[in-house]
Amino acid sequence: MDQQQRHQYLQAMGIVEWQRRGRAARLAPQSADPVVTDSEPSELPVPVGEEITGLDWEALQARVLSCTACDLHCPRTQAVFGVGNRNADWMIVGEAPGAEEDRRGEPFVGRAGQLLDSMLFAIGLDRQQVYIANVLKCRPPNNRDPRPEEVEQCEPWLQRQVALVQPRLILAVGRIAAQNLLKTNAPLSRLRGRRHSYGEANTPLVVTYHPAYLLRSPLEKRKAWQDLKLALEVAAQ
Ligand code: URA
Ligand code: SF4
Repeated sequence: MDQQQRHQYLQAMGIVEWQRRGRAARLAPQSADPVVTDSEPSELPVPVGEEITGLDWEALQARVLSCTACDLHCPRTQAVFGVGNRNADWMIVGEAPGAEEDRRGEPFVGRAGQLLDSMLFAIGLDRQQVYIANVLKCRPPNNRDPRPEEVEQCEPWLQRQVALVQPRLILAVGRIAAQNLLKTNAPLSRLRGRRHSYGEANTPLVVTYHPAYLLRSPLEKRKAWQDLKLALEVAAQ
């Protein structure tokens, strides 16, 4: 694909209609420490440490699909594990499943997912080549922002996915994914444009806008394109 075609393609990304997502507070207020009483039924906690670190793909997927470690297991239709090439060079990490993902059990299959596919296509990748997952595996009601305790409970699953894929690059799409992966409150504008690293393996990580955001802020697509080019460079290093 030559530059002209790419340009046209990126232009075409602008025609997709955007549907406004529910907005919650930027950072959900921390709830007070839960008071644990004997009478309260407790959820099965996510196991930590060795147990998850040793899981293979099948076991990991089974555990995620039956996970009840946070309240999001109640409203979900199903947990959305992740999809794609388990030996991928690129791992795409989003925020959480939306309505369509919750229904189909696959990440990024709704409108934002179509734009993500276009973004990948523009840099010569397709969905089958990369591995796609989310910070949260279950859909927050009305697409509200993930709560810190939900992210905390869900994190070991993603960490294990990253450890199994061993990607050359993680592309964090959107503020929520970027802030949670990098453990920062910095705005996305300050996180994009440079190489970060994630986790114990120091996996190179690049941040870009969420496709849902790009659908409503088409002027930012130029910057997203720059991010993708940076990601290509980093992945090739
Ligand atoms: N938005 C996300 O962040 N992830 C999805 O899977 C779908 C929409
Ligand atoms: Fe478990 Fe994550 Fe779903 Fe919460 S969001 S129930 S931690 S899989």
